Amino acid sequence: MKKPLFILLSLLILISACTRVNNIKSDSVDTIEIVNDNHSYANIDEIKTTHLNLELDVNFENKTIYGVARHEMSDHNCDTAIFDIKGLEIKKVTLGATKEKETNYVIGKNDELLGQPLKIAIEPKTKYINIYYQTTSETEALDWLSPELTAGKKHPFMYTQGQAILTRSWIPLQDSPMNRITYSADVTVPPSLLAVMSASNETIKNNEGKYHFEMKQKIPAYLIALAVGDMVYNSLSEKCGVYSEPELSNACKNEFSDIPRMLSVAEKLYGAYRWEQFDIVILPYSFPFGGMENPRLTFANPTLIAGDKSLVSVIAHELAHSWSGNLVTNATWDDFWLNEGFTVYFENRIMEDVFGKDVANILAITEFQELEVALNDIENGNHPEDSQLKLSLTGRNPDEGMTDIAYVKGAFFLRTIEKQVGRKKFDEFLKNYFDKHAFETITTEAFLSYIENELFKPNNITFNTKQWIYEPGIPDNCIKITSERLNEMSLLADRINNGESIFEGKNKNLQRGDKITQEWQTFIRELSPNITSEQMMEIDEQLKFSKEGNPAIQSDWFQLAVKVGNKSVRPYMSDYLIKIGRRWYIESIYIALKESKDPNDLIWAREVFKKAEANYHYVSKSTIKKLLD
Ligand code: BES
Ligand code: ZN
Repeated sequence: MKKPLFILLSLLILISACTRVNNIKSDSVDTIEIVNDNHSYANIDEIKTTHLNLELDVNFENKTIYGVARHEMSDHNCDTAIFDIKGLEIKKVTLGATKEKETNYVIGKNDELLGQPLKIAIEPKTKYINIYYQTTSETEALDWLSPELTAGKKHPFMYTQGQAILTRSWIPLQDSPMNRITYSADVTVPPSLLAVMSASNETIKNNEGKYHFEMKQKIPAYLIALAVGDMVYNSLSEKCGVYSEPELSNACKNEFSDIPRMLSVAEKLYGAYRWEQFDIVILPYSFPFGGMENPRLTFANPTLIAGDKSLVSVIAHELAHSWSGNLVTNATWDDFWLNEGFTVYFENRIMEDVFGKDVANILAITEFQELEVALNDIENGNHPEDSQLKLSLTGRNPDEGMTDIAYVKGAFFLRTIEKQVGRKKFDEFLKNYFDKHAFETITTEAFLSYIENELFKPNNITFNTKQWIYEPGIPDNCIKITSERLNEMSLLADRINNGESIFEGKNKNLQRGDKITQEWQTFIRELSPNITSEQMMEIDEQLKFSKEGNPAIQSDWFQLAVKVGNKSVRPYMSDYLIKIGRRWYIESIYIALKESKDPNDLIWAREVFKKAEANYHYVSKSTIKKLLD
C-alpha cells in the first residue's frame, strides 16, 4: 500500500467517530443480534487475532517489559487492523512470519479510559502482525513491588491484572472479551525469580531465567496474566497446587487443602474441568482483589490465608469461573453479571457440598446484606440504573459494573429460578448451558432466549426474567434465605445495642474461634453506630477483632469504629490500610471515613492514603484517589 494514501485513510478513520467492535452473532435461527463492545477500538468484525505469541523481557531495574506481540490473524479482506493500546510505547510494526517487513501504523487520539487505537496498514493476505513495544510508567495493569512489600523481603515481585480493560496497557492486542485467542509466550526474568502465567507452567526456577508458556484453549484477552517473583510450588493433588513465596509454603498447604475436593465437586455439578490444571498463586498484599480467575492459575490475595480456612470460598469462586466466565464468557462488560452472578451461584453450590448447607446459607445471607448496602448506594447515586443486571457502561469504566448487583442480585436471580424449576432440572440446564457455549462468548439476550427455549418453555414455566434483568431493584419473588445461626448473632448484637454486657453467663468465655467469620460479620453489621466507644473496647478486649481478626472481620469492624467515633483502634486501622490493597476491604473503610460526621476523619483518611498508596495496585489506588479527591 502507498504510504500517503494510508495516512490519509487513517486520518479519515481517526476523524470519524470511533468505530468499535461490532459483531453479528446468531444464537438461534430466528434471532440475529448485532453486538457492540464499546470498550474496544478493535475491528474484530473484520479481522481477528487467532493466536498470540509473546516475547517478553521483564526488567525489574527499569520496571519495564520489553516485548514483541506476534499476532496470527484470521482470514480477512482488509487493509487495516486495529488494536487497543494504553500507555504503551510502540517501537515498530512488521508483517510476516519469517521475512518480516516493516509497515506503517497510526496511533489515534488518547482516550483517558480506553487508551488509543493502534491502526496498522496490512494487506488482505497478511497473516502475521508483529508489534515491537515496551511498557511505560503509565502502565495500569502492572504492579512492580520492591522487596519490602513481599513476604520474604529479599526479592522484588511483579504481577499483572488484566480484567476488565487493562491488558492493553501491557500487551498491544484486541482487548475485547468478544474475541478468543490461544497464546504462547517466551519470558525472560532475573534468574533468582520464577515466572508463571495463565498457561502451562514450570514448577521450579531455571538458571537462565527463561520460561516458555502455552495456553492451548481459546481465552479472552483479559485472562492473559503473568506473575514473577521468588516462588515455590506446593502440590495439593495431581491437578492442584499453590505457588507462593517460600515463606508462605506451610500456611498455604494447610489453608488450601480443600481445593482438590472443590474441583471434584465442581466437575460433578457442571461437567469436566476443561483447563487440565487448577493452581493458584499467592501474590503480595497489594493485589486489588481477593482472587482473579486467570485460567489454570488463579491469582490470589494473601488475605485469604486466614489460618482457619474461613476465606477459602474465594477460591471456590475463582474455580467456578473456570466454567462461568472462562469457558462461557460475557460478550461485553454490560453482560458482566453472566460472569459473576453465575459464579457466585456456583461458588455457593461448591461450598454447600464441601462445608454443608448451613455454611452455604450463612455465606449467601452475608452477601445479601452487602447487596442491600450496595443497592441503597446505587439508588442514591449518579447511576440508579446500575441496579439492573444488564448494564450500560458505554463511556464509563467497566469497573463501575463490579458491584453486588452483578454478583449477588445475579446469584439470587439464579437461585430463585432454581427454586421454581427444582434443583435437578436447573442443574441439568446449567450443565448443558456450559457445554453448549463452551469457549464462546454470550450476551444477556442470547442467554435469555436460551433459557426460555431450553428451560421455561419445555417445563411450562413463566418467570419474570425481563424484570430481573432490565428493571432496577430486587423483584418481589426473590427467594429468602434464613439462618438460625445468624439470627442468634443478630440477637447478640441487639443486646449490646440495648446496653447489656454479653460476656456473662454462657458467653463468659466466648471466643472468636467459636463462630465463623461470616457470623462475626453479621454480629458487627448489626451493631448500632450509637453504641459507645467503651462498648466497642469491651468487645475488642474479649474478641480481639482489631488485633487478630482476619481481614474480612477487620474491615467491618473498622467501618463500625468510624461510625461510632472510636479512635482507639486507629493504629490498627492505619496499619491495615497501609498493608492491604484489596479494594473491597479498604474502599468501604475509606468511604466510612469520608462520610463521617467528624470532618477530621477525611483528613486522617487522606494522610493514611498518602502513606499507603505506594503499596496499592493502580486499580485500588485510582478508586481510592477518586474517592478522597
Ligand atoms: N473476576 C473477579 C475480579 C474482577 C472483576 C476484576 C472485575 C476486575 C474487574 C473475581 O472473580 C472476583 O470476583 N473476585 C472477588 C471474589 C469474591 C466475590 C469471592 C474479590 O476479589 O473480592
Ligand atoms: Zn468473580
